[in-house]
Amino acid sequence: MESIEISARKPYRIYIGDKTLENLPGLLEDTLPDRTGHRPGVFVVTDRNVAHLYLEKVIEGLGKKGFKTGHTVLPPGEDTKSFRALRRLLTYMARAGLGRDDVLVGLGGGVIGDLAGFAASVYMRGCTHIMIPTTLLAQVDSSIGGKTGINIKEGKNLVGSFKSPLFVLIDTETLNTLDGRQWVCGLAEIIKCGLIRSRELFEIVEQVTRDAADDSDGTVTGLSLKTHLCQPRQKSRTLLGEIIGKAVKIKREIVAEDELEQDLRRLLNFGHTFGHALENLLRYRTLLHGEAVILGMRIAVELSKSLDLLSGNESDRIKRLLNALPVPRVKKAVTRGVYGRLTRDKKRREGKTVYVLLKRIGEGVILSDVDRRSVHESIDAGLQR
Ligand SMILES: NC(=O)c1ccc[n+]([C@@H]2O[C@H](COP(=O)([O-])OP(=O)(O)OC[C@H]3O[C@@H](n4cnc5c(N)ncnc54)[C@H](O)[C@@H]3O)[C@@H](O)[C@H]2O)c1
Repeated sequence: MESIEISARKPYRIYIGDKTLENLPGLLEDTLPDRTGHRPGVFVVTDRNVAHLYLEKVIEGLGKKGFKTGHTVLPPGEDTKSFRALRRLLTYMARAGLGRDDVLVGLGGGVIGDLAGFAASVYMRGCTHIMIPTTLLAQVDSSIGGKTGINIKEGKNLVGSFKSPLFVLIDTETLNTLDGRQWVCGLAEIIKCGLIRSRELFEIVEQVTRDAADDSDGTVTGLSLKTHLCQPRQKSRTLLGEIIGKAVKIKREIVAEDELEQDLRRLLNFGHTFGHALENLLRYRTLLHGEAVILGMRIAVELSKSLDLLSGNESDRIKRLLNALPVPRVKKAVTRGVYGRLTRDKKRREGKTVYVLLKRIGEGVILSDVDRRSVHESIDAGLQR
């Protein structure tokens, strides 16, 4: 099992490997403060889909090692990042008698991770929590960096906090049960990391996508990408394991320099400013988060090119990759609403929208003075095929 340290105000480790779920009780024993003779209670929150697949295994493993457990199962989907679900979770934690010395485990994708982290930051003014991310997107992105939150009608993640987990446990075997769309979503965040910080990572994903297209007459699907990512490499690792490790390290570097998102960390929002606007316009129904990020990156690449930051060659190369990924179409009427939603983005600086753009593949840049016309034209161009 690989272990990567995240330096934050409260440092923590990310454990990555195949079949690592069984290590949870041992990691808890090793990481929790030593209170002789006292085993903390462990309360697991998950969603219905993940519960069917992995809850029993987690609860059984903990029970065998003498941990007292409780759990709650919430509906899957973005609607669960809500005050309603938060209240329900906090109520069940309280009814289960969870104290400050006990542990909340978020078992699931980014939705459960964001909700569990936020609940842990407010329950009894802060309790210990652990993340077990089970989607590719959550493993490479949302479980790292301590951002938690829920959505309100006015915008995504508008209510939240920074809260470090005790540790993050990544079991790559859990990805086997993901559907094709979820693979594409995870890959979107990996491509984002490559574009802002690592040409090498971008090129690996570019090659995987090309191989997937060659296998199936040019049409790439989430499951064909999975097949290529899961091929064995040296030392029994898969390309997927390698890529997850690289993406986690990029996020670690950026978060270490700017944990509270004053400046540099905004780079991680590449594609997200436009993506969040699209998700919000479509009421979190049509597009999954990662799909919205792909469309957002397409717009950001157009904007980078139109402002002469990014060369035509580089922009064509990125567009070839992004356009190859399957994403639902967005209607023209939605395109027209995107600009208006940008003004609701919580990352505005001095009243201006902050744009994360590219100078080249592997180097992102942050700008806030961008003319309105260029943004409008880029939205149109980015959302067209
Ligand atoms: N906190 C952060 O820094 C950060 C960063 C990026 C994204 N996010 C947030 O993450 C959320 C998106 O996360 P997501 O894409 O993981 O969505 P998600 O949590 O909704 O999971 C996607 C779907 O996959 C199912 N699922 C989860 N694990 C599975 C598994 N192993 N096998 C089969 N099905 C499984 C879920 O039940 C759900 O239906 C968004 O709300 C986004 O805002 C947060």
